[in-house]
Amino acid sequence: MHSKLEEILTKAFKKLDYEIEAKVIKSKENNVDFQCDNLFGLAKEYHKAPFMIGEEVVDEIKKMDDFSLYFKSVEVAKPGFINMCVSDRFINDSLRNLMDKDMLGATLEDKTIVVDYGGPNVAKPLHVGHLRTAIIGQAIYNILKFKGNKVIGDVHLGDIGTQMGQVIYAILRDFPNHDFETINFDLDYLNKVYPEISALCKEDEEVKAKCLEITKELQDGDPNYKILWQKICDISIKDIKRLYDYLNVHFDLWYGEAIAYKQFPEMMPFIEKQGIIKEDDGAKIIDVSEKDDKVQIPPLILQKSDGAYLYATSDLGTIWQREKDFHPDNIIYVVDARQSMHFVQVFRAAKKAHIYEGSLEHYGNGTVNGPDNKPYKTRDGGALKLESLIEDVKNEFISLREENKNMAKEDLDKIVNAIIKFADLQNDLTKNYIFDIKKFSEVNGKTGSYILYSYLRINKLLFESDSKLSENIYNEADRSLRLKLLEVSMVIDQAAKERKPHYIAGYLYELAVTANNFYEVNKMSEASENEKNDYNIILSYNNFVLKTLLELLGIEIPKAM
Ligand code: ARG
Repeated sequence: MHSKLEEILTKAFKKLDYEIEAKVIKSKENNVDFQCDNLFGLAKEYHKAPFMIGEEVVDEIKKMDDFSLYFKSVEVAKPGFINMCVSDRFINDSLRNLMDKDMLGATLEDKTIVVDYGGPNVAKPLHVGHLRTAIIGQAIYNILKFKGNKVIGDVHLGDIGTQMGQVIYAILRDFPNHDFETINFDLDYLNKVYPEISALCKEDEEVKAKCLEITKELQDGDPNYKILWQKICDISIKDIKRLYDYLNVHFDLWYGEAIAYKQFPEMMPFIEKQGIIKEDDGAKIIDVSEKDDKVQIPPLILQKSDGAYLYATSDLGTIWQREKDFHPDNIIYVVDARQSMHFVQVFRAAKKAHIYEGSLEHYGNGTVNGPDNKPYKTRDGGALKLESLIEDVKNEFISLREENKNMAKEDLDKIVNAIIKFADLQNDLTKNYIFDIKKFSEVNGKTGSYILYSYLRINKLLFESDSKLSENIYNEADRSLRLKLLEVSMVIDQAAKERKPHYIAGYLYELAVTANNFYEVNKMSEASENEKNDYNIILSYNNFVLKTLLELLGIEIPKAM
């Protein structure tokens, strides 16, 4: 519908010798469906009053033979908008057309895209800071896949950083005189020992130096440390997987920085050959500043003077590996916005070194904040474990109603997921938000529970039928729902193009509100046979759209709530 309207307007502009691609948006005014705001721009360019141009365009459109096929009315409004009301016939034809098409009418794409989301560090438990990248990344993954792309999700574990040296240091201390093969420890041990040593390193320079030395030797391939490293990875990754599984977050690849390190023997000589490496106090650096920079972009440090590699080097190695394995068109990173500078450096270095010619995109997510509007912390100042947050939401939801206590575990988990994810995904990914458990758990309001509840309530009314949609539109509530449904393909396309799932979340809420209103006004129980058929078709399609979009956001629907 939308693109057809733009086509009609563009044609009219062209006939009048105005060169412009018309843009049509939904109108917020009563009794107006769509509007076009292009007149102001044209007025400047052609030195005419916007209203005058508007009158010419409206006259032109009214001359169309099939005007009444598309419109109820087209008018120019002061100071310079073209207001359009579409015909019922146009609505129904478009809706039938949409329902016949797969993929909710979204356009198709055919790219190979790597999505890098997650980025947890092995040996450390997942905390609230890991929530957004996982949820947003998975939604972007789902959306791009839905659009037909070949999408590869990579968790990109931090599995070779200093925390590994610290944990190995602790193991050597706690299991002296052991054969490396026989040393045995479990997750509880890791959870206890990592914070302990990490705190110790802040106080004790000697321990810190020792841990760094172990890290370096591990990175250089020390076979004994390698054995311990593998054990740490096995235990820790199993636990990380368990939590991601709970959140319905899945990765095609469980690669880590260690895999990037394997690329260095091939990648480093290649970069050397490009002649872009400079020496700085024994370190190898790449100058990535550009003359138009508004802020200073520091050089990327490729290798320290002691030969150690850094975070940026590992990201370059990962790009090298991805290019070799998949030759992707795009590599998308969903990583905390506070790492933006890192990605500017890495992306520029990758181009400068000719490691990768495709598109590198960082979507820097905001933080999940506590009531003080600072990144969520526990009372003792540590990061809140993801598991605790999930528990808190679960308990809050259970406490809402007596019936919730006896809910099937599977359903409860789906609802907890919906609450957490919808709370997150309704915000533009770049924004921070305050995690307000009470507000997010409520069944009324812009919440996951509300959307699920709307879906389930409508689902109870639906019946099997192969009747076709009639030409009728019964009332304003009905008309609004049909128009709302017609927006779906545009919303998906926009979310995919901008990599922003919040468009879908916002639309889901509007759709649920509109459908609930339809349901209140058009009662199935009081409807005639013909009305019932039409209501059933509209509401079935509504629920199909709700369900598909929820799936794109990684939200599953419980059997009951
Ligand atoms: N492990 C990193 C951290 O905790 C995040 C990794 C993000 N992904 C990447 N390709 N750099 O900060």
